[in-house]
Amino acid sequence: MSAVENPVTFAVAIVEADAHRRQSLVRQLGDDLGTASFASLRALEAQLNPDASAVVVLGPSCAPATELEQVGWMARTWPDVGVILVVEELSTTVLQQAMRAGVRDVLATPDRAQLTWAVAQVADTLTGATGPPTTLAPPSGDAVGELTTVFSTKGGSGTSVVATNLAVTLARRSSGTVALVDADLQFGDVAVMLETRLEHTIADAATAGERLDAPLLRSLMVRHDPSGLLVLPAPVEPALAEKISADDIRRIVEVLRSFCDHIVVDTASRFDDVALALLDQSDGIILVSGMEVPGVKNLKLGVQTLRLLDTPASKLKLVLVRSNAKVQMEVRDIERALALKADVVVPNDSVVPESLNRCVPVVIGAPRSPVARAFEALGDAFLPGVEPVKRRRTMFSRRG
Ligand SMILES: Nc1ncnc2c1ncn2[C@@H]1O[C@H](COP(=O)(O)OP(=O)(O)O)[C@@H](O)[C@H]1O
Ligand SMILES: [Mg+2]
Repeated sequence: MSAVENPVTFAVAIVEADAHRRQSLVRQLGDDLGTASFASLRALEAQLNPDASAVVVLGPSCAPATELEQVGWMARTWPDVGVILVVEELSTTVLQQAMRAGVRDVLATPDRAQLTWAVAQVADTLTGATGPPTTLAPPSGDAVGELTTVFSTKGGSGTSVVATNLAVTLARRSSGTVALVDADLQFGDVAVMLETRLEHTIADAATAGERLDAPLLRSLMVRHDPSGLLVLPAPVEPALAEKISADDIRRIVEVLRSFCDHIVVDTASRFDDVALALLDQSDGIILVSGMEVPGVKNLKLGVQTLRLLDTPASKLKLVLVRSNAKVQMEVRDIERALALKADVVVPNDSVVPESLNRCVPVVIGAPRSPVARAFEALGDAFLPGVEPVKRRRTMFSRRG
């Protein structure tokens, strides 16, 4: 269903005095709903159209009683405005005051999925709204996230570069939750590539055993702020790798599927138990290879192994990464050798090592580069590039 058939009929306003927090709320909600942000309630009121349908998301600076009184007044004056309050910690006092002021929902440090879901729920109750906007997907408890494993039969092929850029692309496009798991258990470098904090790792998720559920796993993951991607990093010490079994990986993936829409897994270039468990569970497998003869020969063995494991060819995607080697095979010769069509050919470009040194994925740091375009094209196979949402009404009058 396209956005044109089901247009968004409300807008989202964010109110928060602290610029940093305001920005992070804007990032969480994205700007495809006509999101506007304001430093104060007064600034919002000055811009509000009286007949508008709007969801107002208030940041923690609006939680004090005096601010909430103002909110009460606003809720009475603009009946088709639904207010959500985001706080850092929920106390019964704030909850009571918020409810008295007509706030529809109070959320304590919600993640993107929780917040967008709450906005969709409130939007649904507005008279101007025809239904939840098409760009918002609920983080349904019974969601079955799509698992994509990025695999190569030869280290240094560009597997982690493909996995991180694909995951970031999907996270930026999706209104749902996208996760990246680093299952290169000995030498995983996803956390370094994305410069995310390293508090917990996949080893903690494995140690949790049967206790692992969605809230616990979510709390072990770290958010890549520029994209909203949730990252489960590899263990900090190579020795921890052997403590993580294929069963642990299966359980982690199962829990991830319950709250993520897309899960991308980066792997070590080995057919070990962990890789086999992942490949077996995957909805899609991205095979990454360079274009020199030895690499392609290894990949041919890999493809044969996957066939022996009854992996349907429809699950496989082939990503070829051009090296700067003088002698390379032609794409069509590789396709013939593997009996697989190349889905994407990634050019050899210095933007890749540069992006690794800056810890900024190419799709963010060099979005116009041919390499970034190749990753965007790969993303299209999972989530087509999102068209701008057509809006029927805006809540903000253009004055002055
Ligand atoms: N398209 C590309 N152009 C230039 N260099 C690349 C490209 N893709 C990967 N590389 C380089 O190859 C090296 C290995 O990439 P990486 O993703 O870590 O491989 P793997 O995970 O398969 O071991 C990195 O140093 C990276 O800079
Ligand atoms: Mg790697």
